[in-house]
Amino acid sequence: MKISGSTNLVGVIGDPVKHSLSPVILNAAFNKAKIDWVYAAFETPEDKLADAIKGIRALRIAGLSVTMPHKSNICTLLDEVSESSKILEAVNCVVNDEGKLKGYNTDGDGFLDALSHDSGMDVADKKVLVVGAGGSARSIIYSLGKAGAGDVAVINRTKEKGFDAAKLAGPTGRHIEESDMPAFAAEADLVINATPIGMSHTEEKQKFPIEPNLLSKGQLAVDLIYHPISTPWLEELKKRGVEAHGGLSMLIFQAARAFKLWTGQQAPLVAMRKAALKKIQ
Ligand SMILES: NC(=O)c1ccc[n+]([C@@H]2O[C@H](COP(=O)([O-])OP(=O)(O)OC[C@H]3O[C@@H](n4cnc5c(N)ncnc54)[C@H](OP(=O)(O)O)[C@@H]3O)[C@@H](O)[C@H]2O)c1
Repeated sequence: MKISGSTNLVGVIGDPVKHSLSPVILNAAFNKAKIDWVYAAFETPEDKLADAIKGIRALRIAGLSVTMPHKSNICTLLDEVSESSKILEAVNCVVNDEGKLKGYNTDGDGFLDALSHDSGMDVADKKVLVVGAGGSARSIIYSLGKAGAGDVAVINRTKEKGFDAAKLAGPTGRHIEESDMPAFAAEADLVINATPIGMSHTEEKQKFPIEPNLLSKGQLAVDLIYHPISTPWLEELKKRGVEAHGGLSMLIFQAARAFKLWTGQQAPLVAMRKAALKKIQ
């Protein structure tokens, strides 16, 4: 990678971001595409976000990936936000379009791209169970609704947040009680873990977002966790014949959407995945 006087600079803004995989994935993409772009990490505390955005404008930085804790607060600092960002009140990608900062949210649609790539599933008319109601769950629930999922049930530790998130799917979204979950899980076409439960192999307390024995062959499960590449939950499900995928594809596909927004080009997906796997494994 050669940096020149005309190199386009983009980067991730968040706190913390030092361990982010995005620089590895996106620099691999720029290299493979042989374009004069480079991606950095901008660790920015919450109370410096407004200053940082002024800096982005002044320095004409070409775009940003946005991660916690800024996804929501950045919305009011931009010139324009997409329809989905407005509804989700969250931005994960900013494009500097000749001085105009435009915010997007590529998480939910990146999830659907990943699902289609990994399993071939089209969620139209499908029965989906989402565990969790945080930022990633909300964007996925919204995209499931837009894509015509038939029944979207949400279960969450904090019920109020679950109710609120379920509404994002539109009329087919609903929050379900713990007591109704086993029957729904057994019939779901797709079960998604959008919580950090099971992230560490050494975690003894709670390893499974949903008891694996509620699912069986013919069903599909996705765990958004990408580090580790596979979780104890996914491993148990695979033993039961359930098709199970981790979160790395979503990470790649949401980054690919950002790449397209910034450069106008299709992202080199294979190179991006290879670089991420090399870093994680
Ligand atoms: N693959 C990808 O591209 C990608 C992208 C984003 C996130 N992720 C992963 O997705 C997961 C969620 O991320 P997020 O950004 O949505 O986080 P978030 O906004 O902090 O939301 C976390 C969600 O998990 C629930 N939760 C947390 N700890 C729990 C526990 N011990 N028991 C039960 N529920 C618990 C929270 O419930 P409450 O509402 O009760 O707090 C909330 O619903 C993380 O593992 C993250 O690494 C992956």
